Amino acid sequence: MQIKNKTILITGGSSGVGLELAEQLTAENTVLICGRSQEKLDQAKANLPALHTFQCDLAKEQDRQNLIKWIQEEHPELSVLFNNAAIANSGNFFELEDAMSLAQKEMDINFIAPLHLSKALYPLLQKQSNSAIVNISSGLAYSPLAEYSFYNATKAALHSFTQGLQLQGAHGNTQVVEVLLPVVDTPWHKGETPKGAISAKEAVDAMLKGIRNGQTEIRVGLTKVLYLVSRISPKLASKIING
Ligand SMILES: NC(=O)c1ccc[n+]([C@@H]2O[C@H](COP(=O)([O-])OP(=O)(O)OC[C@H]3O[C@@H](n4cnc5c(N)ncnc54)[C@H](OP(=O)(O)O)[C@@H]3O)[C@@H](O)[C@H]2O)c1
Repeated sequence: MQIKNKTILITGGSSGVGLELAEQLTAENTVLICGRSQEKLDQAKANLPALHTFQCDLAKEQDRQNLIKWIQEEHPELSVLFNNAAIANSGNFFELEDAMSLAQKEMDINFIAPLHLSKALYPLLQKQSNSAIVNISSGLAYSPLAEYSFYNATKAALHSFTQGLQLQGAHGNTQVVEVLLPVVDTPWHKGETPKGAISAKEAVDAMLKGIRNGQTEIRVGLTKVLYLVSRISPKLASKIING
């Protein structure tokens, strides 16, 4: 699929992978981004004036409805949805005092929001001759990292949901794609990026190449190896991930 002359929504397009995607796609497309922080959205727009921004918290159903309404009214020609925004809480599940509220919020942002946006925006996507839903997931969907109490599970859920949609067969003009990322050097890591991280540019280059080539499960960088190892020896994959 060629990504040219399209209207594209990137959730979490104000930072990291989403911002890099926005940077690479604005020259030839109309790019819409959303995020919680108005300051980050303004900063992105200051650097890329062609961007269209929308402030919303994807954990909140009403905010998701507002985003959907904005797209329906202002950008009904939407043809690509990148479900990219996510958060991760770390810590021992039984020691986290507010584990349940953290887990609920994380699940809402990382899993429920992609479902909600995909369902509500699908009728618009269907009107375009060539459209796509691209779910940004993680190699941790293949093998979990101990310190992420529920993040692994939110990404495994998104992985399984995407596979389920793909198994349901063709969705008219809309392709359903998953991108599984390895560690990427972004603000996500709050200045403590693990060794071996790839740059956001490398991640986005690989992602866009995969989409152009029609791949539906795009394993970026080391997630290719992790995928194979997790099939042959899940224990070894877990050792690699958890050091
Ligand atoms: N970085 C990695 O090592 C890595 C590895 C594997 C997979 N991934 C995946 O790659 C994707 C992008 O991650 P990243 O590294 O680019 O992260 P990032 O730099 O922290 O960016 C996350 C983006 O999501 C937005 N966001 C977070 N919560 C939101 C909410 N409730 N409502 C709306 N927007 C929200 C953030 O903006 P606000 O804070 O303003 O809301 C920001 O724009 C995620 O799906 C992540 O799971 C990342």
